[in-house]
Amino acid sequence: MLGSIGSAAAVAKMSADQRIAANRSEPLMVAEHAQPFVLPTLGYPFDALEPHIDARTMEIHLTKHHKAYVDNANKALEQLPGLKNLSAERLLSNLEVVPQSARMALQNNVGGHVNHSLFWELLMPGGSSRPSGALADAINSTFGSFDAFKSTFSNAASTRFGSGWAWLVAPRQGGLRILSTANQDSPLMDNAAPVIGLDVWEHAYYLKYQNKRADYIQAFWKILNWDVAGRLFASVR
Ligand SMILES: [Fe+2]
Repeated sequence: MLGSIGSAAAVAKMSADQRIAANRSEPLMVAEHAQPFVLPTLGYPFDALEPHIDARTMEIHLTKHHKAYVDNANKALEQLPGLKNLSAERLLSNLEVVPQSARMALQNNVGGHVNHSLFWELLMPGGSSRPSGALADAINSTFGSFDAFKSTFSNAASTRFGSGWAWLVAPRQGGLRILSTANQDSPLMDNAAPVIGLDVWEHAYYLKYQNKRADYIQAFWKILNWDVAGRLFASVR
């Protein structure tokens, strides 16, 4: 812990890597995105999630919105060579090492990159209707039933005011929680690993659903890849 290092002066001389190593936060996610960040490709065509998410929305969402987060994060990090060895997940888990002047830019844009990268992986044509194994057991023991979980998650997604995300997360101390975050804030900022994330920014659904966010949330359940969610849950450190 930092307190064992000896003095504030010693801490000040440490690099960001060393401070993180001495401090708390190994990211909870095993998969990490190294710098410079790269826009991922989808594992399916833009129209593969029709009719639940339309092709035009998917194309704009990836190639305009997600790309902007990647470009802006890389641009901000070009000015911060001391942070270049930190993955996106490590940055989000340790935002206190980022200079104050750049912190919000990285919170928004690195968060946007990590959140969207996960979102694309959590979607699949046709979906898979139910969780299984350890994740199914944890959902049942935490929420009482799968239907109760779905209802609570959907409520978190529909009541997030403005732009943000709904999450099923695995906190560092164990268990499962449902929460929502504003803007592109990541659960990693709060020491929780995402297991399921749903983008409820209007850019995710407005072309097809206009103001009907509830219909988009219902469609999400039909294209959610529970196998990926199960692997994320199993891989949480
Ligand atoms: Fe988005």
